Amino acid sequence: MITGKPISSDMFKQSMRFLAGGVCILATNNDGDWNGLTITAVCSLTIDPPSLVACVNRNTGTHGIMCRTKRVSINVLSYDQTDIAELFSSSAVRGPQRFDKDKWTEMASGVPVLLGALAVMDCEVVQQTSVGQHSVFFCEVKNVVLQPDRGALVHFNQKFFPVQSVC
Ligand SMILES: Cc1cc2nc3c(=O)[nH]c(=O)nc-3n(C[C@H](O)[C@H](O)[C@H](O)COP(=O)(O)O)c2cc1C
Repeated sequence: MITGKPISSDMFKQSMRFLAGGVCILATNNDGDWNGLTITAVCSLTIDPPSLVACVNRNTGTHGIMCRTKRVSINVLSYDQTDIAELFSSSAVRGPQRFDKDKWTEMASGVPVLLGALAVMDCEVVQQTSVGQHSVFFCEVKNVVLQPDRGALVHFNQKFFPVQSVC
């Protein structure tokens, strides 16, 4: 028998660091002002209707906008977009200043689209619930832009790793 260590917030954080995951930018359009953040808490939910779950801290600049506009893009980062992941999680640069207009455009729905992302999903928030400091957003994917011939970016143990495509 193995006795596990009692859980603390540090132990929980340490455990979750070992869950390697894809990195996304969740982005919103608030009357022409773009906002967004780096997010790894994104998970496929169901195929019919195509849906995903995104968990966002209520203190973030994007949270309130998401609740109001109910429309977000989920931009799945490519292997060469570590700089964007760092920028969108930086406390030094926030709000619309994170968006370099040469790297972003808009979808017909208005949500920001990151050029060079592996996949961009244009989503409508259909439900949300709160747990602790976070909101869990249930999102239906309405449109998608794919650029599949590129490697992925993975976050593991507090570092970003490029994963080159082998296909
Ligand atoms: C690898 C990585 C993953 C993150 N994942 C999430 C996440 O899933 N949900 C979240 O709310 N914040 C997440 N964050 C933190 C936000 O990106 C960060 O707090 C950001 O600055 C919030 O945006 P704001 O400064 O506009 O409030 C993550 C940060 C990093 C570096």
